[in-house]
Amino acid sequence: MYCIKKITSDLTWVGANDRRLAMFEGVYSVPYGVSYNSYLLTDEKTVLFDTVDKAVQHRFFENLAEALGDRPLDYLVVQHMEPDHSAAVKELATRYPKMKIVCNTKTQAMLHQFFDMEIDSRLHLVKENDTLSTGKHTLRFIMAPMVHWPEVMVTYDSTDKILFSADAFGSFGALNGAMFADEVDFAKDYMDEARRYYTNIVGKYGVQVQALLKKTSVLEIDMICPLHGFVWRRNIQDFVTKYLQWGSYEPEEHGVMIAYASIYGNTENAAEILAGQLRDKGIKTVMFDVSVSPTSEIISAAFRWSHLVFASATYNAGIFVTMEALINDLVAHNLQNRTVALIENGSWAAASGGLIRDKLEKCKNIQVLENTLRIKSSVKASQLPEITAMAEAIIATFPGTADRKPQNASNVVAPNVANESVDLQTMTKLSYGLFVLTAKDGDKENGCIVDTVIQVSDSPIRITAGVRKISHTHDMILKTGAFNLSVLTESTPFRIFEHFGLQSGKNIDKFYGCGYDDRSANGIRYVPEHTNGVISAEVIAAHDCGTHTLFIADVVQAFTVSHEPSVTYQYYSDHIKPKPVLPKEGKASFICTVCGYVHESETLPDDFICPLCKQGATAFVKT
Ligand code: FEO
Repeated sequence: MYCIKKITSDLTWVGANDRRLAMFEGVYSVPYGVSYNSYLLTDEKTVLFDTVDKAVQHRFFENLAEALGDRPLDYLVVQHMEPDHSAAVKELATRYPKMKIVCNTKTQAMLHQFFDMEIDSRLHLVKENDTLSTGKHTLRFIMAPMVHWPEVMVTYDSTDKILFSADAFGSFGALNGAMFADEVDFAKDYMDEARRYYTNIVGKYGVQVQALLKKTSVLEIDMICPLHGFVWRRNIQDFVTKYLQWGSYEPEEHGVMIAYASIYGNTENAAEILAGQLRDKGIKTVMFDVSVSPTSEIISAAFRWSHLVFASATYNAGIFVTMEALINDLVAHNLQNRTVALIENGSWAAASGGLIRDKLEKCKNIQVLENTLRIKSSVKASQLPEITAMAEAIIATFPGTADRKPQNASNVVAPNVANESVDLQTMTKLSYGLFVLTAKDGDKENGCIVDTVIQVSDSPIRITAGVRKISHTHDMILKTGAFNLSVLTESTPFRIFEHFGLQSGKNIDKFYGCGYDDRSANGIRYVPEHTNGVISAEVIAAHDCGTHTLFIADVVQAFTVSHEPSVTYQYYSDHIKPKPVLPKEGKASFICTVCGYVHESETLPDDFICPLCKQGATAFVKT
């Protein structure tokens, strides 16, 4: 029985899923299956985009017959000759003898290589930017060599603004009923498989991926139809941004991936001690036993994280076998722009570290830290300072970490110490601006309201920003070292303060549905309305100041949005902030002396935090 999906009124998915396949391409485990996408365009002419793998071709032919109805199949566009998409070409050509095959000359040669059949008379050869009119639709063909084979091309339907992207923008994972990426929580549930697919399948060809992205950047694209995984019709730019990042070999996140090959657990022991020390200093860590985790997962993680540690036993005077395979694979995938530390183990002639170092020298812009940690059979307590030194050497290469405090300690809100000689209302007389502070950590984006931002230097142009530690944005900046400031104006309505200041990004996505899609050059969003200027900055140091962290940052971009006056904290208090609601008569309550918030209760816990202005219990007085 057929199983098809409507994509648009003219376009139908006629592909199929495979959840029985153990190893895609014989190399990559696919625990969640894989989809082979094929699309039928029904215009005045009918056009099929690619076929499927032989394992699912029975369902594919049923689907195609249903989608075609009583119409003939006029064209097959072969965008990619890898057999997971072309296995059914010969059978298709037999079943539909009048069908023309649209392809380029490289594809023509491969058709002859893969199939023993007369096919040249049926070819409609195309080259870069050639078009084919099918009635209402015009198809334009764009060559995409090495994304992922040399013959690959993509197709742009300029009528419906659809990019048929071949392997690009694909993902591992079968389609479980949903056809569109926006029908699922893609970032949470599918991004890892999309990254694993990209890095392992086309990760080696970052330059070619960038070239394709450059060509397609001039197109107006409303939908992307890849050969694997979901169709994209919303938030397309978010996924394109991921591709730009992956294609440029820039890490997605600051943190340390530790991959170890351990025969009897001693190399693993060293790796775990190091991981623990890094975590204690607030650095994110992930760990893989390379003899257990699929290589494709570790490759994917290596593309994700900024810092890599390889810890390997020495084996047959070389690198332990599984580690050697991993390092060879990473070099083959052209990994770049990473900082690496090495741990080697050897009971009589440790050699693995030096050999790994030699292999990584073939990679572009990989900084291997000078000191390799050497273990002789097992870690001794006397070596702990060496492990600590390695942790510190790694941390020293993180942005803005010179003053990093242990994460557990820095995230604890300092107790509110009552000081009767300090009138908190006096503190509000200080003049501040108000800003939306935004940051981005991988797929996650957030913003909060801050008021303590000042310029402290002209050359370099340097600012400081105090950010409350309990805010989600704070943690993002601590990790990524980058942020934007949108300078708010006097026209800013309270809803902006409420939206960014009075709810936590740990619970909601503050950018969801708000329409703020503008980004500065660092890729971080800013607030384009009620803003007169946008400042992008990179953190050079972070100081623990109790409830807040003081970020010192260099300005890397600044531009003017409007000439409205900036809002000050005083103006906000006098004209924007809603007036406090007076306590109900007879009800015991506490009022915040800073913002006027009323908390109705007989008692006020010592650790109470004002939900509006975030002051502690000492800012409250009993009414
Ligand atoms: Fe999905 Fe390169 O084939």
